[in-house]
Amino acid sequence: MALYSEKVMDHFMNPRNVGVIEDADGVGEVGNAKCGDIMKMYLKIDDDIITDVKFETFGCASAIASSSMATELIKGKPVEDAMELTNKAVAEALDGLPDYKMHCSVLAEEAIQSALEDYRNKKEQA
Ligand code: FES
Repeated sequence: MALYSEKVMDHFMNPRNVGVIEDADGVGEVGNAKCGDIMKMYLKIDDDIITDVKFETFGCASAIASSSMATELIKGKPVEDAMELTNKAVAEALDGLPDYKMHCSVLAEEAIQSALEDYRNKKEQA
């Protein structure tokens, strides 16, 4: 069996939603101290709907594929749905990741949660 599913390869080679949102409503950055990979997520939110999402990932193929898939899973969805997104759901949507690469999908979950937290904090301060 190939190490990576076709979906992982597709999202790694042609990642969706790469980039920066300058006037983002929520930004989250997380890293994994062991491998040194870093992921940054930007969210644009209107009326509690995620209207746009972009990411920058400095990391392995699985981290890039996970961020790309995670953005696709939450784009256009209510904030509540995004809050429930788990790394398992991201990995499943990619048709699986090798066990030792599951932590890469955790980074995507954490980056989104961190961006949502930033959004909530900003909202409270407004
Ligand atoms: Fe660290 Fe993939 S090896 S995120």
